[in-house]
Amino acid sequence: MSCTIIVGGFFGDEGKGKIVAHVAHKDKPSIISRGGVGPNAGHTVKVGEKEYGVRMIPSGFVFPDARLFIGTGVLVDPRVLKQEIEYVGVEGRIFIDGRCSIIEEKHIALDRTDEHLSKTIGSTGTGCGPANVDRVQRVATQAKDVPELAPYIIDAAQEVNNALDRGETVLLEGTQGFGISLYFGTYPFVTSKDTSASQIAADNGVGPTRIDDVIVVFKAYPTRVGEGPFGTEMTKEESHALGIEEFGTVTHRERRIGCWDGKMARYSAMINGCTIGAITGIDNVDEACYGATEYSQLTEKALAFIRQAEEDIGVPVKLISTGPEMTQIIDIR
Ligand code: IMP
Ligand code: MG
Repeated sequence: MSCTIIVGGFFGDEGKGKIVAHVAHKDKPSIISRGGVGPNAGHTVKVGEKEYGVRMIPSGFVFPDARLFIGTGVLVDPRVLKQEIEYVGVEGRIFIDGRCSIIEEKHIALDRTDEHLSKTIGSTGTGCGPANVDRVQRVATQAKDVPELAPYIIDAAQEVNNALDRGETVLLEGTQGFGISLYFGTYPFVTSKDTSASQIAADNGVGPTRIDDVIVVFKAYPTRVGEGPFGTEMTKEESHALGIEEFGTVTHRERRIGCWDGKMARYSAMINGCTIGAITGIDNVDEACYGATEYSQLTEKALAFIRQAEEDIGVPVKLISTGPEMTQIIDIR
């Protein structure tokens, strides 16, 4: 039995979705429950020839034997949710906490027209910030009061704690990244909630004493979308010369790309209480590592990178992603 949290260590889009998918298939949780802000997050999961992008459903959906929850603290956009339930085919095993706040059209409109949010901060325009404002004002609608959501409503926190009491394995999925945490990130260029592991536990109603492991996912070459400081950012010419070009799942904006930031990684690992480091995109460090599934296949260049990362974050790197496919991973946990 165990309860593991998976969060992003840099500015989001570290490849958490892929790590979650792999860990789920290996650890076989009975529940995968997501925390984080809401549909501003986009996860891409590649299974065989098919690539899925989801924003509301936990990216662990690719593991068919788990029930999928959306935790109490997460904002729900019923339109996005309904679309995804059909597209991904998870009807019957997806459930939402009744206390989740609802994103309405007016929140999206405000997020897209407000100068500060849309221009200065560069929000995703998905209504998350304004919806969280309504929650704080105590005027937000909750999921339990939306008739069309009735079939999905549960007490997710109770169910997760019950599962842990029964000795089952639970995966708590974070979204966004440490650098855009409302409290610990590059304020004011941040999202509308904390994104660290403690928040993900709180989003799901799991007390800190029940968490066994925190996996923090770091991208070998971190990326950032939207505005705000990015200490190790490269020029477009530099990143394109390295063969790295990425676009956002939700906004399709081109992501800014940077070099490994050891100082940020260390601070992020500390605040997250990291017990296991995960590195994605090692094939960008040395393309000879593409698709590797064994530690022994890693090149000296890749190993040197991992040793430096371990020194920075202070715990072993036990998950190394070597390509976009779920199976392209080294797991030495
Ligand atoms: P908001 O969360 O839509 O208000 O956007 C605020 C900032 O956080 C913007 O810079 C977004 O690009 C960024 N952001 C929000 N969610 C994500 C995410 O899941 N990945 C990467 N950046 C994000
Ligand atoms: Mg993303």
